[in-house]
Parts: sequence; structure tokens; C-alpha cells
Amino acid sequence: MLALSYRGPSRVVVEEKPDPRIEHPNDVILQVTRAAVCGSDLHLYHGFVPDTRVGSTFGHEFTGVVVEAGSSVETLKVGDRVLVPFNIACGTCFFCERERTSVCENTNPKSSLVGGVYGYSHTTGGYDGGQAERVRVPFADVGPMKIPDDMSDEDVLFLTDILPTGYQAAEMGDIAPQDTVVIFGSGPVGLFAQRSAWLMGARRVIAVDPVEERLDFARRHNHVETVNLREVKDIVGHLKKLTEGRGPDVAIDAVGLEACGSIFHDVLGKKLMLEAGAPTALNWSIDAVRRGGRVSIIGVYGPPWNLVPIGSAMNKGLTIKGGQCDVKRYLPHLLEHIRKGNFEPKALITHRFALEDAPEAYRLFASRKGGVIKCVLIPPGAT
Ligand SMILES: NC(=O)c1ccc[n+]([C@@H]2O[C@H](COP(=O)([O-])OP(=O)(O)OC[C@H]3O[C@@H](n4cnc5c(N)ncnc54)[C@H](O)[C@@H]3O)[C@@H](O)[C@H]2O)c1
Ligand SMILES: [Zn+2]
Ligand SMILES: [Zn+2]
Repeated sequence: MLALSYRGPSRVVVEEKPDPRIEHPNDVILQVTRAAVCGSDLHLYHGFVPDTRVGSTFGHEFTGVVVEAGSSVETLKVGDRVLVPFNIACGTCFFCERERTSVCENTNPKSSLVGGVYGYSHTTGGYDGGQAERVRVPFADVGPMKIPDDMSDEDVLFLTDILPTGYQAAEMGDIAPQDTVVIFGSGPVGLFAQRSAWLMGARRVIAVDPVEERLDFARRHNHVETVNLREVKDIVGHLKKLTEGRGPDVAIDAVGLEACGSIFHDVLGKKLMLEAGAPTALNWSIDAVRRGGRVSIIGVYGPPWNLVPIGSAMNKGLTIKGGQCDVKRYLPHLLEHIRKGNFEPKALITHRFALEDAPEAYRLFASRKGGVIKCVLIPPGAT
């Protein structure tokens, strides 16, 4: 089959690889119909995720059709159209029982931090991802959800990650009616967090990003206030000025470890790698939010540590929450929101590429040029 294959920082190719096989009775094999490229994939692509092995296939946001089912699979059969949460979860461990599927303790047993993730390095289990013609889906009775007959794959593709992730980001901010929410990062995750903040009753939603086209999209699509951080010298001071000097009630970091905006952290975290990437947006979140406010960390950071002003957070009495999204538990609820038109996931798809052209999709998405918000890959034969 054709599959994306990592070749080292900023290099991916599409090449022939062996077809995946059923390895456990509860596996299914999917013929992939759509696979999106995520901001998290950029961290892999740029070489920030430890143990990303040459030859591995990325892709944790995909839909597909079941073409083979293991002998113990009960809920799916050949021909079913499904979407698959990016977390691989066993469904029965301590954490899965509490709906914390992102930290399943069985699907990435060598890690004390996080569960399995498709196509996301050996740090998250070494599973091959869905930017390919076919993919193996373990624990097939746990993760996948059948796609309703009246919905297309693209209608629901982003339920695999970025929509629930944006929603969880807002939820972790414990947004109360009348709150002012600032969201750093206006990529796909930030955009869904903006919509979610409105749904949760925010009075003001302020989006911060250095890319004007993304802010323009955020204004048109989500009717938020925007701040282009390239146009202000002191972003923290500016946000305080916009919020009666106190700061917003909630700050969401939807940027993660490749944030721009601090030469110090660029050198220390991104060039020398003496900390795990640049925590610039997180630090701005802590500094900008009002005393007693809430900070939600949905942007990805790696272990072991970053230079973060924990003393400011402590003295200001902040509540800080973070996490990988527990996708599964949001699926029924967010599917209803899509049906009601509260989210229009397809509107974020700005570019579609044939799977063979995945290297071009990565280059474009990483450049953030040409109005790109979200790239979707279409394997040969998928309609
Ligand atoms: N926790 C989870 O489960 C989960 C799931 C999916 C993605 N993520 C993470 O969320 C983050 C965003 O994902 P995405 O797909 O939207 O990625 P993206 O790369 O498309 O978006 C990031 C945006 O942040 C902007 N940005 C850069 N530096 C900034 C700064 N200092 N302040 C404000 N904005 C800044 C960029 O211009 C870009 O628009 C990534 O770190 C990704 O890995 C987390
Ligand atoms: Zn993703
Ligand atoms: Zn589990």
C-alpha cells in the first residue's frame, strides 16, 4: 500500500509499505477514506518528538471503511464506515473506566505519562498512523464510531481530534457566563476552542495569533475579537488594557511547543533543546490572565520540563488544567452539535491533496501561507 513515511526533520515521502495485518482478534483493518494533517503532526515533522523513527507513518485523524475484522470484534463488520479517535484506548483499565482514554495504561505500557496514539512516534506506542491507504485499528470495539448514513466522512472527520480537543480546551477553562476568554493560537484547535467558548456562554472571546489570514478567518467564521501579536509590542500589557487592566478570566494555550514570540525560548527550547520547546504562549497565558483566573493548556508540550513562571501562577491563585483530549467521551455530544450547525467542521478544510502529495501538504501547512487552515489527504480510490 501507499503510506507516508518519515525521513527525518522536515522530510516525509510517500512510498510503498507492507499492508497492515490483523495482529490481535480485536483489531480491524480500515481502508482509509480521509486523513487530516494536524498541528501535532508538525511537531513530529519538525523533529520535536523524541523517538520518531525513520520509516514511521504519521496520521491520527482519519476515517475509513472496515475491510477486515478480527475474530473477537463484535461492534463492527466489513463495510462499516467509521471515524477513529486519535487515542488508542483499551476500554477497561483504571483510566478508561473513568473516561480518561488519553491516559489509558494498557496501550502504551512503557510510558508513565500517556496512552497510545496513532502515528505519533514510539513515545506514544509506535503505532502506524492513517496517512496511508490502510491502517490497523486495535481495540476496535472501544474507539471507533460508526459514521451516520446521512453524514459524509468530511462532516465528521474532525471528531477524531481537533473538534473535541478545542471543546475540551474551553471546558478546561471552566468558562462561566460573562467571562472574557483569550485564546492563543488560531489554528484549527484554537478555532474550535473559540466556537466552544461562545457555546459555553463567554461574553468576549479574543483570539491571538501572528498570522493575519488566520485571524481574518477567526473573525469571519467565529465572530471573535482578534489581536495580531506582530502588531503589538507587549502582548500581555495589551490584553490587560483590553480587559479593564485586570486581564481575561480565562486563557487558553492552543499553540504548544513551537510558539513564536520569545527569542529566549526560541533559542533555549527550539534550537538548543534545553527545554521541551518554547512555552511562550503558556507563559503569556499565565501572565495575562486575571488573578484567580483559569489557564487551559491544550497545546502540546513534551517531557521533561519547560521554564514556566510557576511562582506567578501560584501567587495569582490560578487554576491550571491541561491534557491530551479524551476524544471518545465527547463524540455523541459533539455529533449533535454538528447536526445542529453549532460547529461546521468542513469549513476549516482549505486544502485537499491526494495522499501521494502529502509532502506538499506538510510543506504548505507548516508554512501557514496561502490561507491554509487544514489539509486533508485523500488516498487513491477514496471518493
Ligand atoms: N491536547 C491535545 O489533545 C491536542 C490535540 C490536537 C492538537 N493539539 C495541539 O494544539 C496545538 C495547536 O494545534 P493546531 O492544529 O491548531 O496547530 P497549528 O500549528 O495549525 O496552530 C498553531 C497556531 O498558533 C499560532 N502561534 C504561534 N505562536 C504563537 C504565539 N506565541 N501566540 C499565539 N499564537 C501563536 C500559529 O501562527 C498557528 O496559527 C498544537 O500544539 C497541537 O499539537 C493538542
Ligand atoms: Zn491531531
Ligand atoms: Zn485503558
